[in-house]
Amino acid sequence: LKEISCEKDMEGMKVLVTAGPTMEAVDPVRYITNHSTGKMGYAIARVCMLRGADVTLITGHTTIPKPSFVNIIEVTSAREMYETVREHYGDKQIIVKAAAVADYRPQSISTEKVKKTDGNMVLELEKTDDILKFLGENRVKGQFLCGFSMETQNMLENSRAKLRKKNLDMIVANNLRQEGAGFGTDTNIVTIITEKEEISLDKMSKEEAAGRIMDEILRLMQEGTY
Ligand code: CTP
Ligand code: CA
Repeated sequence: LKEISCEKDMEGMKVLVTAGPTMEAVDPVRYITNHSTGKMGYAIARVCMLRGADVTLITGHTTIPKPSFVNIIEVTSAREMYETVREHYGDKQIIVKAAAVADYRPQSISTEKVKKTDGNMVLELEKTDDILKFLGENRVKGQFLCGFSMETQNMLENSRAKLRKKNLDMIVANNLRQEGAGFGTDTNIVTIITEKEEISLDKMSKEEAAGRIMDEILRLMQEGTY
């Protein structure tokens, strides 16, 4: 599979991809998560592997098939993903953060099952670490940093703000409101945003979108204009 006909334009490159949702425990029975299936991130990992890269995939729990010939590390929570990324980001030339990381987690995890009472329940949440922001602040020289952005409104404007705030080279924006885009679908409609450019791709398979995103990253790295 690794040898199938495909231009090996990423030979010798080390790539880190994160994918899938995180799960934040409430008690031994319950957790908070989101609808991410990991498809987009797995497609990126697979495309990079097929193009000859040495790929590390840090993934939340998903039910989709794992890509072959990729170093896979499974994590559960945002904290675990943060710690695992910190261990692995240092020697990577390209980092693509497609994971849907929880922004908040329960402030404390009950060791016993929380029992229901007659009234409402309030769950105190605390902020998780912003992994991508950490990577933007602790960037290794020459490293290319690509984030993903999921929005339901003001997609371009909000995504551009994330590109700057997190010190990224690229952000790939998806609008959850568009048909054929978003969680669980096999297709996606993305806009590739860099400081200088905005490339809106048509609806296409997530594998194809992954190829186009990687083409763009490699082009910018070759030009040295990121
Ligand atoms: N991200 C991250 N760590 C977090 C939250 C998000 O690394 N704790 C990353 C995601 O993996 C993604 C990017 O930041 O690549 C943007 O995620 P998104 O949820 O769209 O944006 P946020 O910055 O979290 O802002 P908001 O959810 O309020 O739109
Ligand atoms: Ca978020």
